[in-house]
Amino acid sequence: MSDNITWHPMNITKQDRATQKQQIPCVIWFTGLSGSGKSTIANLLEQYLYHCDYHCSLLDGDNLRHGLNKDLGFSESDRIENIRRAGEVAKLLSDSGLMVISAFISPFHSERQLVRELFLNDHFIEIHVDASLSVCEQRDPKGLYVKARQGQITNFTGIDSIYEPPKNPDIYLNTDKQSPEACLEIIINVLNEKGLLV
Ligand code: PPS
Repeated sequence: MSDNITWHPMNITKQDRATQKQQIPCVIWFTGLSGSGKSTIANLLEQYLYHCDYHCSLLDGDNLRHGLNKDLGFSESDRIENIRRAGEVAKLLSDSGLMVISAFISPFHSERQLVRELFLNDHFIEIHVDASLSVCEQRDPKGLYVKARQGQITNFTGIDSIYEPPKNPDIYLNTDKQSPEACLEIIINVLNEKGLLV
């Protein structure tokens, strides 16, 4: 970072923006293997919150890789940069008073921890969407596991690139056994318990 830059404090605060929207900003961070159900559940959650009149934003790994992160691949260093950028965007959005939903594989402990540290004074909820590799492979909604097994894709999470499961997520879901609707209900209950649905 350059020495010659200065942080400008601004007058309208995050709290002001959130009060205007009559809600409490938060970041709900989904992590899990490809095909585990992150995007499906995140999408259900956004629909639920939207229809309850909350102002949300949904950041999805695949989608951000079409624009902001289109220069990044799936090497370890690119995934690290991907999650760093995703965390910073989530910060900007939650500073705007939004409820932010993020769905990235986010495979590494260290980067998830760095993201969490961006939100030490905020509501940050990490959700592990767990599913066994064999179930994800059976689902294979985009045909990527087949390609990875055939060697047409390298560095594929769970095949030849590591996924480090969270040790202590705020919410644990297992989509081998739980439907997306059941997962949504669990999340809504936790948001209610935390007083985020006002
Ligand atoms: S990461 O690991 O957090 O940087 O990944 P993310 O930005 O969430 O992107 C994951 C989606 O990219 C597609 N895809 C791959 N995933 C894993 N490994 C490899 N090599 C790969 N190549 C492409 C895939 O569609 C992922 O989407 P999801 O929704 O997770 O299935």
